[in-house]
Amino acid sequence: MNSESILKAVKLDLKKYTMNPATRKREVRLSELKEYFSNPEAADRILSSGRDPVVYEYYEYSVEEAVGHMTLGLTIIYPGKVGKEYFMTRGHFHQKPAAEFYLGIRGRGILLIQSEDGRTDYVELRPGIIGYVPPGWGHRTINTGRGKFIFFFAYPSDAGHDYGIVKEKGFAKIVVEEKGKPIIVDNPKYAGST
Ligand code: PA5
Ligand code: NI
Repeated sequence: MNSESILKAVKLDLKKYTMNPATRKREVRLSELKEYFSNPEAADRILSSGRDPVVYEYYEYSVEEAVGHMTLGLTIIYPGKVGKEYFMTRGHFHQKPAAEFYLGIRGRGILLIQSEDGRTDYVELRPGIIGYVPPGWGHRTINTGRGKFIFFFAYPSDAGHDYGIVKEKGFAKIVVEEKGKPIIVDNPKYAGST
């Protein structure tokens, strides 16, 4: 085997839900996401009980963050809610208009997408279902199930991330539990429609 080879076998462990090798591994806890939920007081109630649960974690593998390369990854969103709103990722736009896809591996969830002028769409992800994010659309994923929601993703490595738009304006829609079922409703705190 050539030790200088750039080809690597990247292993998705489909029992432990890990990706190896990874060039990035990140765990995001509730304390970091509190303000992204429509009801931060409900997050405070969890945090003040002494818990700061991991909401999601993800692995990424990039050979190089340069034009033409692709970044691969695995995201695990834990089950849980803040008030009525399900655990979710922070969400972002890419700095360059780049497409991305998600492949559901385990559990159930929603891929929510949003244009900069506030149009929205969504797809329900399950194992084997692919969700496509068109270039230029912001995206967030939400765990609407009772177990872990896990998906594989890929996007162009030079796309970059813009977290500022979501931080400032939020998403136009949120996913909440109503009578035991997920529903998508307008976000009362959305600041992008003015
Ligand atoms: O690129 C993506 O859309 C995903 O890989 C996400 O980065 C991942 O799910 C974590 O979400 P976020 O980057 O919004 O924290
Ligand atoms: Ni993305």
